[in-house]
Amino acid sequence: MDFIDSARVGSLLCLILLIIIDATCSREDFVSIQCCAPSDSIDPKTSISWISDSNLTHINGRCLIFDRPVSNEISYKGDRIFETVPKWCYNLTTRNGQDYLIRGTFLNGLNVRNSYPADSTFAVTVGTTSIAQVNSSDDKSEVEGVFRATNHYIDFCLVKDKGSPYISMLELRPLNDSAYLEGNSSVILKLVQRVDVGNTQQKIRYPDDDRIWNTDANPNNYSIQSNNTAIYGTQNTFVPLEVLQTAATAMEQLNFSISLEASEKEYMILLYFLELNSSVTMGERVFNININGVMVHDRFDILQNSSNYKQVVIKVKANESLDISLIRVSADVSALGPICNAYEVFKVQNRTPGTVQEDVDTIVEVRDELLAANPDNVVLRSWSGDPCVPFPLKGLACEPRNSTFVITKLNVRNNRLVGSIPESFANLQHLINLSYGCNPQLDSRLPPGLSNRSNLITEFGDCVDQDSQHPLPQRRTVIIGTIAGGSVLFTIAIGVVFTYVYRHIRPNVTKHAMAKNAVFSMPSMDDFKLSPICIQIFSLQCIETATCKYKTMIGEGGFGSVYRGTLLHGQEVAVKVRSATSTQGTREFENELNLLSAIQHENLVPLLGYCCENDQQILVYPFMSNGSLQDRLYGEAAKRKPLDWQTRLSIALGAARGLLYLHSFAGRCVIHRDVKSSNILLDHSMCAKVADFGFSKYAPQEGDSGVSLEVRGTAGYLDPEYYSTQQLSAKSDVFSFGVVLLEIISGREPLNIHRPRNEWSLVEWAKTFIREARIEEIVDPTIKAGYHAEAMWRVVEVALACIETFSAYRPCMDDIVRELEDAFIIENNASEYMKSIESLGGSNHFLSVERKILPSVTTPTPSEPSPIFFQAMDPPSPR
Ligand SMILES: *[C@@H]1O[C@H](CO)[C@@H](O)[C@H](O)[C@H]1NC(C)=O
Ligand SMILES: *[C@@H]1O[C@H](CO)[C@@H](O)[C@H](O)[C@H]1NC(C)=O
Ligand SMILES: *[C@@H]1O[C@H](CO)[C@@H](O)[C@H](O)[C@H]1NC(C)=O
Ligand SMILES: *[C@@H]1O[C@H](CO)[C@@H](O)[C@H](O)[C@H]1NC(C)=O
Ligand SMILES: *[C@@H]1O[C@H](CO)[C@@H](O)[C@H](O)[C@H]1NC(C)=O
Ligand SMILES: *[C@@H]1O[C@H](CO)[C@@H](O)[C@H](O)[C@H]1NC(C)=O
Ligand SMILES: *[C@@H]1O[C@H](CO)[C@@H](O)[C@H](O)[C@H]1NC(C)=O
Ligand SMILES: *[C@@H]1O[C@H](CO)[C@@H](O)[C@H](O)[C@H]1NC(C)=O
Ligand SMILES: *[C@@H]1O[C@H](CO)[C@@H](O)[C@H](O)[C@H]1NC(C)=O
Ligand SMILES: *[C@@H]1O[C@H](CO)[C@@H](O)[C@H](O)[C@H]1NC(C)=O
Repeated sequence: MDFIDSARVGSLLCLILLIIIDATCSREDFVSIQCCAPSDSIDPKTSISWISDSNLTHINGRCLIFDRPVSNEISYKGDRIFETVPKWCYNLTTRNGQDYLIRGTFLNGLNVRNSYPADSTFAVTVGTTSIAQVNSSDDKSEVEGVFRATNHYIDFCLVKDKGSPYISMLELRPLNDSAYLEGNSSVILKLVQRVDVGNTQQKIRYPDDDRIWNTDANPNNYSIQSNNTAIYGTQNTFVPLEVLQTAATAMEQLNFSISLEASEKEYMILLYFLELNSSVTMGERVFNININGVMVHDRFDILQNSSNYKQVVIKVKANESLDISLIRVSADVSALGPICNAYEVFKVQNRTPGTVQEDVDTIVEVRDELLAANPDNVVLRSWSGDPCVPFPLKGLACEPRNSTFVITKLNVRNNRLVGSIPESFANLQHLINLSYGCNPQLDSRLPPGLSNRSNLITEFGDCVDQDSQHPLPQRRTVIIGTIAGGSVLFTIAIGVVFTYVYRHIRPNVTKHAMAKNAVFSMPSMDDFKLSPICIQIFSLQCIETATCKYKTMIGEGGFGSVYRGTLLHGQEVAVKVRSATSTQGTREFENELNLLSAIQHENLVPLLGYCCENDQQILVYPFMSNGSLQDRLYGEAAKRKPLDWQTRLSIALGAARGLLYLHSFAGRCVIHRDVKSSNILLDHSMCAKVADFGFSKYAPQEGDSGVSLEVRGTAGYLDPEYYSTQQLSAKSDVFSFGVVLLEIISGREPLNIHRPRNEWSLVEWAKTFIREARIEEIVDPTIKAGYHAEAMWRVVEVALACIETFSAYRPCMDDIVRELEDAFIIENNASEYMKSIESLGGSNHFLSVERKILPSVTTPTPSEPSPIFFQAMDPPSPR
């Protein structure tokens, strides 16, 4: 726990939203970053000026400096590792309309120091377009993209799939006279291979060229070199002469084979030719160019048009492999065989549409303004890159609109924000829902652009947190209902007076009627009308008939046994009977009856009625045909059919909503005190219903004596703070709910002494893995192939926050509900998002969908061999 706290504080300190880079190198349009370098440095050979990212405005991630270089090809030996945010972007300055090459280098120090980053996979995106996956099983990976700037900056992002993303170096190079994009700014090229054919010596790179020309890994037997060939007949060679001066030839046929992703994609092939034999004349070397067996160029002759240089650009669709063959036209036509000096292969990616620019700019502005006043705010500090793609940033919800995304909801409630509401909120044209918390007198300070918007729903204040250091919004407490039960059973300690806290000033709310046939009548939160809940009174005979004299026992409840039965009109019921021997059960019976008589919520088990004849105390509920969550997670039912992740998520959300209702019940918090998976029941449609209110209590109010009652709860779920201080608060339920979330994630019971010692306690066991970001290892093996990594992370983060030892650090139920809603949306709408993006012509590079295919076992994600997908490393300073 202490470990987690310090990790969390550490992450707070180093969270970053963006880095704005000022390039100050020899070539001042170069940006060269060494992540986590102890200082800026100038490479003595190339005079490239490397800057460290350590002093950039809000730096995120922790540093790992290896004790020796990862390979002898590359001298840099550091990584920045992002353990706490699912997405993180470097914001690099660009010039609109200029073409750029961008290159990220990812070194894995595992082979030099057995620590980190282990077992990570993440996507690399240029802007919102995913161009590659990096897998930590490769010691070093290099990802290079070519794009045309359409703005004054570009985001280079790492998006977590598994484990923690990391990066060692990042370079941005402007490209002049780029033949790559031909002015097309709607695509991004991802380098697959760039080969200096025939070169077996040393890679050619800066300062000879801004690109890195790999040496020829399969030097042809006919490699040739000519150091004194000059180019004539063209100005525009695009490739340095040094690269062209080596080549391969063959008598009949030259072949190059490149392996590709398994699915069909569009590729761009660039072939470069320079005639190195000065005695050759036109017509002496003539060949056809075939790609995957299809002729794309007939009778190609380099020497045509009085020049000894040609470059050929070919666009093809291909999967799995690309076979380039240069075939000599028959010997009587062509005396010599084909030649090739260099080639490049790029994958052509359509840009993935992002958020509408105005909303992006506004979010940056809002974040910066709020961060100035709230520098430690975790949510704001996690905002990086596009607000909606590939998934909405924390606290935001988005919708596709025309060919982009717009922000429709913004929720920074319960973030204890200080300062006024930024005026720029008004620039979010499509905002329909704004929640903003913990700032007194906010209403009067709504910016003008927002206050007059008719379709905007706003929610303010309501940081329901007794531990908050900041003033809570002004509240008024009015007693509006008194309830008197008709039976002694109903006159118990709790629930005589209901107080209702409300925000709006409604001075005349004093009248209320009592519903005749209601045991309790409660003022509705919405409109002060009475909404009576009808509770039936059953005769003992009726109960005995329904249960066939208590024939089928289906469980043990808080104070007695539970039997299954069927009422006369066919409704299936569960009947809870206080055991005759238990004197202690009376209070729980009364408690539950009172509470359930007064409350009603979709996610709480409703009470149908009761019976108290002949000293029998019996409660009647509808029968929940899908049993308990516990049984479904690791009981008999789980063995028959494991619960899938989507269902688990919706159960978690349902249960959280039920608890939220309890905690905000009529303005006075009711604490369940026995939240556990066996008390979360599932109806026929798998809707979660929280049950068993035998221990429930009102939260102590100011003036109540501090230490209360005996501590109640179930081992494994019990809040350690409540246990040690006996101070009851809603946060005790939050702790127990956190344990339930861990059960949902892991499919394990909270306590099991039959496991190895370090796995007895689910909470302790899970924490170990979560703090190392190794959540795959706690995920229930039965759902391994079927969850969205980001959704899972959101739930893990909520669970972790819930089980904080100190209740003050735990979230409130409304935060939890909101987070689970986000997770639910991410899990279920990723495909919707995908569809909308595809329909916009964005093809299938949508990140979330790739992320969805988890984990490694069944993944059909791109798995090109490393030399192709991720080029071999280069030292930062060759030559
Ligand atoms: C960061 O700033 C501090 C103080 O200005 C300086 O001493 C340190 O060298 C800088 N570090 C880097 C990596 O630039
Ligand atoms: C590329 O073009 C820019 C302006 O268009 C110029 O400043 C720069 O020097 C050029 N770079 C090279 C290597 O030619
Ligand atoms: C840009 O490339 C895309 C995909 O190859 C193509 O559909 C589009 O027509 C091109 N646009 C221009 C202006 O060339
Ligand atoms: C290339 O040379 C090697 C040995 O020098 C030989 O084994 C191989 O067969 C040759 N390949 C071709 C295609 O000529
Ligand atoms: C060309 O130059 C390289 C290095 O400068 C040398 O190794 C090579 O032998 C030269 N080749 C010819 C054909 O002169
Ligand atoms: C290229 O492939 C063809 C057909 O597979 C083969 O006959 C030829 O020898 C290959 N050329 C070289 C130089 O390996
Ligand atoms: C260069 O070209 C001439 C004329 O076609 C030819 O005779 C000679 O063999 C070629 N040299 C090489 C090294 O290919
Ligand atoms: C990136 O930096 C530029 C320049 O400082 C800034 O205008 C822009 O809003 C930033 N973009 C994002 C998404 O952070
Ligand atoms: C989006 O589409 C709607 C109609 O479908 C149109 O009225 C609106 O102007 C469009 N907005 C933009 C920004 O193109
Ligand atoms: C990462 O690489 C390892 C080893 O090659 C492989 O087993 C694993 O499936 C890869 N992960 C992903 C997500 O591609």
